[in-house]
Amino acid sequence: MLDEKLIRNDFPMLRNGIEMQKKPLVWLDNASTTFKPDCVLEAVTDYYTHSTSNSHRGDYDLCYDMDMKVLAARKTMASLLNAETEEIVFTSGTTMSINLVAFGYAAKYLKEGDEILLTEAEHASNVLPWYKVAEMTGAIVKFIPLTEEGRLTTENLENVISNKTKIVAVAQVSNVLGFLAPIKELAAIAHKFGALIVVDGAQSVPHMKVDVKDLDCDFLSMSGHKMCGPTGTGVLFGKYDLLQKTDPFMTGGGMNAKFNMCGEVQYLEAPVKFEAGTLNLEGIVGLDAAVKYVMNVGFENIQAHERELKEYAVKKLLETGMVDIYNASSEAGIVAFNIKDVFAQDAATYLNSQGIACRSGNHCAKILNGFLKTPATVRASFYFYTTKEDVDALVEAAKHAKEEFLNAYFI
Ligand code: ALA
Repeated sequence: MLDEKLIRNDFPMLRNGIEMQKKPLVWLDNASTTFKPDCVLEAVTDYYTHSTSNSHRGDYDLCYDMDMKVLAARKTMASLLNAETEEIVFTSGTTMSINLVAFGYAAKYLKEGDEILLTEAEHASNVLPWYKVAEMTGAIVKFIPLTEEGRLTTENLENVISNKTKIVAVAQVSNVLGFLAPIKELAAIAHKFGALIVVDGAQSVPHMKVDVKDLDCDFLSMSGHKMCGPTGTGVLFGKYDLLQKTDPFMTGGGMNAKFNMCGEVQYLEAPVKFEAGTLNLEGIVGLDAAVKYVMNVGFENIQAHERELKEYAVKKLLETGMVDIYNASSEAGIVAFNIKDVFAQDAATYLNSQGIACRSGNHCAKILNGFLKTPATVRASFYFYTTKEDVDALVEAAKHAKEEFLNAYFI
């Protein structure tokens, strides 16, 4: 059982609130980014105060120590995902991870007429790299229809997949609607047709146990900052044989074994061949601390807590009679809603005046608005440190948003 009130003491942003607003902070934008506990800040500070050096670039103790820290962080990420250590590539986050698969793998192997399957719910980072790769190779991007509710199902994949399909690239959890896709079953279908499945784990890995071996996914991306880690950190998991076949899309120091004046280059093996230049070392040690912290909180506890909050929020928001909800039945701790007769960004501006931070707009999933038949939504997203009091504050504000909004504009 999770004691979110005790946990909140570990987070300076939750202890301090925001001076600017002179109100306690109600942070409901965890799908965008999360707060960092003291242990993460201490790990980052320790890098600058006690262990500054580069990795893989020196024969002195500090550098050796840094190499060991990078290896330890890679092992932590492997244990998080149940991957092998050498299947973990450090990146700047999900966007870079998906771009690495798109440009390093797909652009190399796709041919004219091959198909890439996405869904309408994908974030820009899981649409635009595929558009670019399609343009480069002559491959075609197609969309797997969602159910009326907004889910990705095996039946819907089966209706569009064919022997032309080479890549199925989908989010495990949608960043707007929070539906959980049946990745294991989707992977089995993709593999039956000889396609690879590339999973965007940005909204799943921070909140639930993700086991890449059990899912049998080919690539999976995640962002550290969405699970209490520093910004600019993340991982690409790839099955090792696929990583070996993938080209680095950045080259430079640290990733090559040798090169000469004739232009001959020998890259190091994966995963290091993808990590050109100096790594984000303070980020990597912070990510290691963050992942250990989140694993210690426990994914079963996190999921149970977020589901309880989600159900509570949906019930209370609907009781106000002032709100339309777009994803009441989804699994994740995300509520996508609108306050009746108030444009989403105006609603979010009013919520901000009440000390409540929610995201509004299209949440980088610009195709989904057509599906939802609304130009924009407000999104409240939870994490393990979110409390029922946070949700109560949102509900209370939702009750008054329309009236306050009309007063502000029409008096
Ligand atoms: N991907 C992040 C979000 O959904 C930024 O808000």
